[in-house]
Amino acid sequence: MPRYALCWLEYRPCDDRVYREAVINRIRTLWVQPGEDIVGSEIRDALSRLFHHTPQEGSTGGGGALYVGTSDQSPVAERISAAELGKLGDEGFILKEVGERDGSSSLVLTARTRRGLVYGVFSLVSMLQRGISLDGISLHEEPAFPLRIIDHWDNLDGTIERGYAGKSIFFHRNKVVKGLHRIRDYARLLASVGINGVVLNNVNVRNKALRLITEEYLPSVRRIADVFRDYGIRVYLSVNFMSPVYVGGLPSADPFDPSVKKWWAEVVARIYEYVPDFGGFLVKADSEFNPGPHSYGRSQADGANLLAEALAPHGGLLIWRAFVYNIQDWRDRKTDRARAAYDIFSPLDGRFADNVLLQIKNGPMDFQVREPVSPLFGGMERTNQMVEFQITQEYTGQQIDLCYLVPMWKEVLEFDTHARGEGSTVRRVVDGSLFGRPHGGCAGVANVGSDYNWTGHWLAQANLYGYGRLTWNPDLSSEEIAREWCLRTLTRDGEAVDRLVDMLLASWPVYEKYTTPLGLGWMVNPGHHYGPSPEGYEYSFWGTYHRADNHAIGVDRSSRGTGFATQYRSPWRELYDDPATCPEELVLFFHRLPYTYTLKDGRTLIQYYYDSHFEGVEEVKRLREEWLKLRKHISPRVFREVLERFDRQVKNAVEWRDVLNTYFYRKTGIPDEKGRTLY
Ligand code: GCU
Repeated sequence: MPRYALCWLEYRPCDDRVYREAVINRIRTLWVQPGEDIVGSEIRDALSRLFHHTPQEGSTGGGGALYVGTSDQSPVAERISAAELGKLGDEGFILKEVGERDGSSSLVLTARTRRGLVYGVFSLVSMLQRGISLDGISLHEEPAFPLRIIDHWDNLDGTIERGYAGKSIFFHRNKVVKGLHRIRDYARLLASVGINGVVLNNVNVRNKALRLITEEYLPSVRRIADVFRDYGIRVYLSVNFMSPVYVGGLPSADPFDPSVKKWWAEVVARIYEYVPDFGGFLVKADSEFNPGPHSYGRSQADGANLLAEALAPHGGLLIWRAFVYNIQDWRDRKTDRARAAYDIFSPLDGRFADNVLLQIKNGPMDFQVREPVSPLFGGMERTNQMVEFQITQEYTGQQIDLCYLVPMWKEVLEFDTHARGEGSTVRRVVDGSLFGRPHGGCAGVANVGSDYNWTGHWLAQANLYGYGRLTWNPDLSSEEIAREWCLRTLTRDGEAVDRLVDMLLASWPVYEKYTTPLGLGWMVNPGHHYGPSPEGYEYSFWGTYHRADNHAIGVDRSSRGTGFATQYRSPWRELYDDPATCPEELVLFFHRLPYTYTLKDGRTLIQYYYDSHFEGVEEVKRLREEWLKLRKHISPRVFREVLERFDRQVKNAVEWRDVLNTYFYRKTGIPDEKGRTLY
């Protein structure tokens, strides 16, 4: 029994005879550039498992061949024009049908770099799995974002912060795991969707993790990096800003102290001895009890530049998180956590070194089911920026509830900041093109662990898959991505795939309906963040209040309130400022409104909340019913385990409905117009 599933690289044999023959004819012989064993074995493995086909090896010179090699290899250079090859970027690839001298045709898969070849091979495999015709194919793909990173919040003791799928696949009892098989398959899965970087450890760097940058752990970090390198993926580490003190025994970690600079330079030089292509550091500083430059009266830029300077000679990057805010007294009604990142970082624009990237969470708070896009994306023109998404479903159902997040991420990437007039999307900010920045990209907090299916909920694999696909090509629709994943992973039956895609696409709106619609957020159980607790965060120091009383709810973040809305460019600042023009799904993020406020469709706010919760539960039940109809198309284990998750989701939705509706009813005394049960 394998210890884990291979997800979308499982390769179920193709049962379409016509397609199988077409592929076998197209790839009668295979030529792979000498030394490219990994690329070669991926393609051979896929052909043999999908089609029971073993092509002849070598070059016959005639048709029916597949040539795989970098663009400087003669079988490639003979068949594709120099002009075309010249257009290849560092990570892109070309897959093309080419004519042979004898009138027949062959396929060429080429790239400038090994990395590009890896992406190309996995793309070809994806087409073969989905039965896509290779006739006349002419494909040139380049990734949309330079950095496409997965952040692990894995601790060295094997636990995972906000992990919902078992233990760490990297660490066990303060050591790197012994066998690297699973990490190798993980690297394959990630490379197959275009990922090129992995941060191994949690941003909260404590205990043994502090020592990952020392010789105690570097030999083990190297073992992992060697595996990822085979698939073109660079390894990064999270570090604690106070390391010079905690690890180095220095009296200070002040960025202006020469001995601190020297310490970091030495640490970094040693890392590169072990991992010559080390990606760089990720830092959470001055945030949630993690110390940072503010402790020394220095700015965030001073702190970031200190580490960037140590990394620069080796070509490393310093990724600095913008998730910086102060804890707050709930009695303080002026401070607004949503403002913090913009207030702290935008004045520092232009002061970060060239190899620093600012990693900004998609919204100003913390991965709620719905938040506006962080205004910081439109607010810093001279700083490299990355967007941080949370693939792990901390606030979106914890991989018990179904919540396909690709549509949310697409909305974020497509959001127009108007920083340089119309069309200044977040996508163009973080791919570097809008402001002409040298670096940029996406980070996603991983949702995987040691569970057999990697993600707890089988269908949560679609989020990992989708995150990768989106960072490679954000022009793909949420539906296309869902379809690819379903076809490759669950079933090739057309109707079943249609049904699954509909379920995935419905899931985020449904989750929003039974939890906290209209941008309210936060009514979760404190600490673990699953299930409802309307005032769970109301009197705490986290700055996440809704301040409900008998008449109204929400924080006034308009120009008349905390002023958060003014951090946006026009026209957003005006649109958000007025409840009448604010997009309704965010109206309670920006405004404090009476329960009797009338929404666009004529319903009162309170009635909308009641309706939404009643409907949400019915829709979860419907999703469960849809799943039941899929029994004959889904493997028994997957079917059973997903059904079990749906049962739990129904319970959770009922709990949300009853707790929230009761809360509002008791606050307001306003009954449901439709007379449904409120407690
Ligand atoms: C959230 C999450 C924490 C995490 C933090 C972060 O607050 O609950 O577990 O450490 O985000 O992104 O740093």
